[in-house]
Amino acid sequence: MARSNRPLSLASALISCTIFYSFFVFDRINVDASPAALPFPESVELCSKGVGQDRTAYHFQPHKYWLNDPNGPLYHNGIYHIFYQHNPKSALWGNISWAHSISTDLINWRSLDLALDRTDSYDINGCWSGSITVLPGDRPVILYTGIDSENRQVQNIAFPKNDSDPLLREWIKPKYNPIILPDEDLIVTKFRDPTTAWLGHDGHWRITIAALVAEMATALLYRSKDFVHWVRAESPLYFSQISGMWECPDFFPVSLKGKEGLDTSVNADNTKHVLKVSLMRTLQDYYILGRYDEGRDMFVPEDSSVIDDYRVLSRMDYGNFYASKSFFDKQKNRRVVWAWSNESDSTSDAVKKGWAGIMSFPRTIWLDSNGKQLVQWPIEEIESLRREEVHLHDLELKAGGLQDIEGIKASQADIEIEFEIPSLERAEPFDPTWLLDPEKLCGERGAFVQGGVGPFGLLVLASEDLEEHTAIFFRVYKANNSHMVLMCSDQRRSSSRAGIYKPTYGGFVGIDIEKDRRVSLRTLIDHSVVESFGGGGRTCIIARVYPEHLLTTNTFLYAFNNGHEAVKVPELTAWELATPHVNREDENFAMPK
Ligand code: FRU
Repeated sequence: MARSNRPLSLASALISCTIFYSFFVFDRINVDASPAALPFPESVELCSKGVGQDRTAYHFQPHKYWLNDPNGPLYHNGIYHIFYQHNPKSALWGNISWAHSISTDLINWRSLDLALDRTDSYDINGCWSGSITVLPGDRPVILYTGIDSENRQVQNIAFPKNDSDPLLREWIKPKYNPIILPDEDLIVTKFRDPTTAWLGHDGHWRITIAALVAEMATALLYRSKDFVHWVRAESPLYFSQISGMWECPDFFPVSLKGKEGLDTSVNADNTKHVLKVSLMRTLQDYYILGRYDEGRDMFVPEDSSVIDDYRVLSRMDYGNFYASKSFFDKQKNRRVVWAWSNESDSTSDAVKKGWAGIMSFPRTIWLDSNGKQLVQWPIEEIESLRREEVHLHDLELKAGGLQDIEGIKASQADIEIEFEIPSLERAEPFDPTWLLDPEKLCGERGAFVQGGVGPFGLLVLASEDLEEHTAIFFRVYKANNSHMVLMCSDQRRSSSRAGIYKPTYGGFVGIDIEKDRRVSLRTLIDHSVVESFGGGGRTCIIARVYPEHLLTTNTFLYAFNNGHEAVKVPELTAWELATPHVNREDENFAMPK
């Protein structure tokens, strides 16, 4: 294999980008408006090319049309199920129903008919997000938000039509729906997304539902003995001054030790609870660690000083990752989380492509051994897709060093790299105000702005002349008593196509760099996805990119260092990944055993 270590030449070429928000598929967020009023402008100039290569190979997406939130992920009788918000008629948000796919390995997926369609007065305007709970006797049940004939958000229930169908193909909505109506003090368009239920020691089920109550973002608590009759608790599970509505709450326990997942009903001394909320205003997922006080039936955050300012809440992912939903996979004793990753191209691109929206790659999620943060890592099944492999070791990346990683098709790959930092001497001083906006810092100090220790990282989906590339990198700063590691994913040069949202994402990595002297990076590349895991999965960033060069030429992959201090790369492995069967319309597909 040819190796090279050539100097970076692009520093001067980095230009600032204008960010276009207005006409991206992001516009769907205005869901409180009546769906018909959603802004889907038709006036954007169509891209004549550049959409075919954007389809992902191993990320979950429907065969065609629109996808948003994951709903009711489940392992049941040997089969994984994922349901999701889907428009069965178009690549834009609307006609929202629950689509349904099944798998035996979370990698290969077969799509089935819609599980829930808009058929009755209580969901005629949409079958919105919800969850699945498995009742005693191994009976899955769906709770979801229906948009009723008066455009109110009501909560509905659905059961499998035939308990002995292992594929859970058809679902019955009983006539007594809706089972929960918005109370008078609630805003009827801000009451949605019931969680998976958990069972208290008193034998009563609990769920939480997102609502805006007296301008407060609130996770309302409901209790039920029979799962059909629900009573709202006087006090919510949790509420906060954080402005705007939360969506898609997720509430689950994590173990204080080890990576094993827990059933949603577990609440014991050796556990903590996670409240995950999706903040509509920022389209970002945040989580709070705490305790579930069953006596008071309340979530008690362990650090109550910061919870009213969303900027200092922990992020599930610092990129394009929203409405995440986890489930306990009892087959492998792990908790797995998915999220919707929206497109960053325009609505007219979506129409032209015929699809929009993918899921992040499923991730195992657990509590870090320091008890202070969550860790996420691609599920191990991804390894079944690994094919051609490139392995490099003991490299040194001097200041300005660029290392080709050749020998695999780099548009569909899994890369693991470790950086070792021999000296922290030249780390630049840290400004604590950066903690509030790491994304901005990543924008100001991109991959080609030379630093003391870093930036070092990967350039992926790079054209031969480097005109197009996405940079994922670290910088190390010296704070008063410690060092801080910043991780960035910079999409500003990801595509030369006009009309793409090309942000810079960033977050700090919770590792002790003084002690470890190492930081790892894992990046999954899948055509229009760059999904990165820094510090062993402590900081995650998923980005959507649309490189033009993929259409006509090879794509390149590099490791780089643009800091004054040399860094070492003890190990680097990159695998080309095979293309699994993901909801393709080919009739001969048999479920893998
Ligand atoms: C989150 C969300 C949910 C809602 C669904 C509608 O993306 O707005 O709150 O149930 O999407 O599709």
